[in-house]
Amino acid sequence: MPNKGIRCFIAISLPERMKQELKKAQVGLKAEKIHASWPAASGFHLTLAFLGEVPADDIPLVKQAMDEAVAGCSGFALETGRLGAFPGPKKPRVIWAGIHGDMEPLYALHQRLHRLLKNAGFVLSGQRFSPHITLARVKRPISSDRLVHMFYPEKQKRPASFRATSITLYKSCLTRSGAIHTRIHAAPFN
Ligand code: 2AM
Repeated sequence: MPNKGIRCFIAISLPERMKQELKKAQVGLKAEKIHASWPAASGFHLTLAFLGEVPADDIPLVKQAMDEAVAGCSGFALETGRLGAFPGPKKPRVIWAGIHGDMEPLYALHQRLHRLLKNAGFVLSGQRFSPHITLARVKRPISSDRLVHMFYPEKQKRPASFRATSITLYKSCLTRSGAIHTRIHAAPFN
């Protein structure tokens, strides 16, 4: 049987305190009785690059691209923003918490990482980078009326903030009870 490779992605992981804040927002969404899958708070992350299935032999190339991407990068401050949805609040498929703060270094890091991975031969989604943390994946269409009040900025509590100091390569194993993410490599900033 052919080796399927390792399903993996690169993300900024979040401190426990921020995960707990986001979990409160997720609990609020759950109270709306949405039919959705709910990523575990322990695995909340800010995705920078989704690589899909990568042959095990190519993992060193990913690590190298990550190490090069963070070279010269110092830490930057990020905070959670209002809730929102993809593709939009009227037809929510993915419900997320937005990210604000030092966006310039975040976008620059994302761009460098994607360029280095593409140069190394990886094919990445060409979608525009829209920094977010996924809180729910909606399984059954819902009326936006039921959720729209949650997307209003004035409903937001005080944002949680943290300092990004590294990027992490995760292996993602899809199971019936959700994805299990295992750390493969971390590239700390200088
Ligand atoms: P997201 O939840 O931040 O949108 C691990 O599966 C992560 O990679 C997911 O949390 C998701 O990020 C992102 N991901 C999964 N499948 C993807 C795909 N087909 N294209 C782009 N990103 C994907």
